[in-house]
Amino acid sequence: MDFMETTINWSELSFGYMKTDYNVRCYYRDGKWGELEVSSSDIINIHMSATCLHYGQEAFEGLKAFRGKDGRVRVFRMDENAKRLQSSARGIMMAEFPVERFEAAVRQAIKLNERFIPPYGSGASLYIRPLLIGMGALIGVKPADEYMFMVFVSPVGPYFKTGFTPVPVCIMRGFDRAAPNGTGTYKVGGNYAASLVAGKKANEKGYAAVLYLDPKDKIYLDECGPANFFAIRDNTYITPASNSILPSITNKSLLQLAADMGLKVERRPVPVSELGSFEEAAECGTAAVITPISRIDDLDEDRSYVYSKDGKAGRTSEKLYNKLFAIQTGDEPDPYGWVKIID
Ligand code: PLP
Ligand code: COI
Repeated sequence: MDFMETTINWSELSFGYMKTDYNVRCYYRDGKWGELEVSSSDIINIHMSATCLHYGQEAFEGLKAFRGKDGRVRVFRMDENAKRLQSSARGIMMAEFPVERFEAAVRQAIKLNERFIPPYGSGASLYIRPLLIGMGALIGVKPADEYMFMVFVSPVGPYFKTGFTPVPVCIMRGFDRAAPNGTGTYKVGGNYAASLVAGKKANEKGYAAVLYLDPKDKIYLDECGPANFFAIRDNTYITPASNSILPSITNKSLLQLAADMGLKVERRPVPVSELGSFEEAAECGTAAVITPISRIDDLDEDRSYVYSKDGKAGRTSEKLYNKLFAIQTGDEPDPYGWVKIID
């Protein structure tokens, strides 16, 4: 393929959709997955009675590729995303897409859109969005018998406009993104639809996100709308364990990196009553990377917990951010084999 220059202003990119050259698709029919197909259209043809449209039979993933100083392209922990998509598929009774095929589709989508991979040092990356949807035409509430998997990509900047600058978040007990024994651990569209009203309300009040509490008792911290939560106290990395949050691959990686840096790590139910004792707090996820939290306002209790007054991230959050980013871009060794080179 000819390498055509793009005229993208990489450092000005926001977290948004940009049309790229190709996407990769695969169809499940008659009980089996077909071959990977390449398309240059960003439109999909779908039956009006498809289960994804009516009954939310839809799951997605999010991962990133980075260009290194050496010019090579690296993708972060795609096997974990492949396995999580399988877990989401089981959670809402869709056909599971094989891990090796997922990796092949991601590689192909990256390679075919090489001219959209932001350069090293631009602060941008290539966001990769795999999608699995129920396609079979049904009226009854049942799993579809046909599915479509696809992967598209878009160059993106930071999810929160400010990048690695602390943002305020709020607690509002009147909203949940997931039910106690519901779909919170799966990356399914319904959880995100359920978070839109609270997210909008929070944004209107000047907050970057909502910090959800456990939907049963509202005693423990769950996670933010698009990211997990962690806090630092007494040289300890503390993050909630809950059966209504998404198992974040970024958080899992940070737990390892924190331990390697000599921090104690705790993954356990974290009561709201601990908020006042934290030295640092942050959101973490593929899109959010690490986004430090400046302040958590509990809007029901009329209380504020402040973690940054000077607009700067805490020292430990910054060290973790730098370490994670250095592994993702190939600036530092990748001791756990998290990164795969796309060539
Ligand atoms: N929690 C939610 C609700 C998310 O949407 C995401 C994003 O994927 C995360 C957490 C972070 O997960 P990961 O680090 O795997 O991107
Ligand atoms: C991600 O971090 O990949 C996400 O999916 C978060 C958000 C854009 C939904």
